Amino acid sequence: MGFVGTWGQISLMSRGRLVSVVILLLSVRVTDGGDLPVTCVFSEDCVLPCSFQPASDEVIHWIKQFDIPVHSYYYSTDHLDSQNQQYGQRTSLFNDQIPKGNASLLLKNVTIQDQGRYQCYTSTVTGNQESFINNKVEAPIRLVDIQLSNDTITCRSTGIYPEPKLTWSTDPRSDLSPDTGTSQNSTSTKVNDQGLYEITSTIPFIRDRTNICTVTSGKTEKTATLKQQAPVHSSPSSEVSIPCNDSQSDLLTSNITWRFNQKVTILTLTYTNDKHQMHVEDNWKEQVQDMSDTLSLRLHRLTMKHQGIYSCEVSTDRDTHLVLTYLEITPDKRITGKGTRSGNITGGVIGVLLVAVVYINIQE
Ligand SMILES: *[C@@H]1O[C@H](CO)[C@@H](O)[C@H](O)[C@H]1NC(C)=O
Ligand SMILES: *[C@@H]1O[C@H](CO)[C@@H](O)[C@H](O)[C@H]1NC(C)=O
Ligand SMILES: *[C@@H]1O[C@H](CO)[C@@H](O)[C@H](O)[C@H]1NC(C)=O
Ligand SMILES: *[C@@H]1O[C@H](CO)[C@@H](O)[C@H](O)[C@H]1NC(C)=O
Ligand SMILES: *[C@@H]1O[C@H](CO)[C@@H](O)[C@H](O)[C@H]1NC(C)=O
Ligand SMILES: *[C@@H]1O[C@H](CO)[C@@H](O)[C@H](O)[C@H]1NC(C)=O
Repeated sequence: MGFVGTWGQISLMSRGRLVSVVILLLSVRVTDGGDLPVTCVFSEDCVLPCSFQPASDEVIHWIKQFDIPVHSYYYSTDHLDSQNQQYGQRTSLFNDQIPKGNASLLLKNVTIQDQGRYQCYTSTVTGNQESFINNKVEAPIRLVDIQLSNDTITCRSTGIYPEPKLTWSTDPRSDLSPDTGTSQNSTSTKVNDQGLYEITSTIPFIRDRTNICTVTSGKTEKTATLKQQAPVHSSPSSEVSIPCNDSQSDLLTSNITWRFNQKVTILTLTYTNDKHQMHVEDNWKEQVQDMSDTLSLRLHRLTMKHQGIYSCEVSTDRDTHLVLTYLEITPDKRITGKGTRSGNITGGVIGVLLVAVVYINIQE
């Protein structure tokens, strides 16, 4: 019996040695495995992962290089007295996960300054471990705005990180277009106090082409296009259909907005939770009949003040397409001959008011 007992002890000892060898290999691997890359999104929450061999008396220190205290934990509780104020109220550990060897850090409302290399140092009764995280922060391009004014196209995007680039092109290609980027260098970049970039660029409008503005940042790319199609003519008494002619987008998952003179919203069709919802602005309820499946806007009961540029904007997660159409309203023939509409005074007053409204609009 004694003999067997001795043999059992030896076996246990060698097993113990085996375990410590495995632990050693594990911690060496963690340290030498290089930095773990993590990408956090600006203003969102982010987890910096870290794990250790579970054992009692856990000590956890998160340190941003070099020597910036981010979060400390020991004696089973957080110790944040020396925490850098940049991290104030924004860090926490998953306390219930710590006994399982999880020292991951939850970082809330990520800022650009959070970018960098972090050390996760852990210590227990069985030893110490450390690992490194390389944290990249991104503020993806959300929206590329394109506008036409005075024969100049302006393309703009804000709240971006890392530094964006902007390029112009046309479809079909045009020699006039500043594809090369040298002839018309009117792109400017600004950084706001949060470290986010804003990029703005202008080019002369190229007619008969789709003008394309592409903004890239890191791995994200977004495009906005603008084209102008032939004017549409109408008269106050007739119905008119203004085509959108966007064939490039997947209409089923797009948001659509019709605007007047590029500023006043007429109608929106938003796509959320697999559903489309259409909304017509109060000021346009009388004029808007409907929007066809091909996105054409059907209007009626128009007056001269409805003459102007109608724009159809189709946007998806990837891109925005803007199609501008000038609607020219020619007064009905039977009321063009001066004052032939009727002899009554009210008619005359309405006529004067109408002229005044049109005049004010032109003045604006
Ligand atoms: C730690 O726990 C958190 C919360 O449950 C989890 O999101 C994370 O993936 C865990 N990390 C590791 C390394 O297990
Ligand atoms: C995130 O931080 C910014 C300042 O960097 C602050 O203005 C904003 O209110 C914070 N958002 C939340 C949800 O705490
Ligand atoms: C429109 O552009 C022309 C030529 O570039 C310029 O002279 C004029 O002042 C501009 N008008 C407005 C309203 O910006
Ligand atoms: C174009 O503008 C960028 C910044 O907006 C500037 O760095 C560059 O030098 C300019 N290039 C030329 C040819 O003017
Ligand atoms: C727009 O579409 C309409 C009908 O769908 C077509 O008649 C018209 O030629 C198109 N216009 C352009 C500029 O593509
Ligand atoms: C469409 O509009 C809704 C509501 O404004 C918005 O939540 C959603 O992100 C938009 N989708 C796209 C693809 O722009």
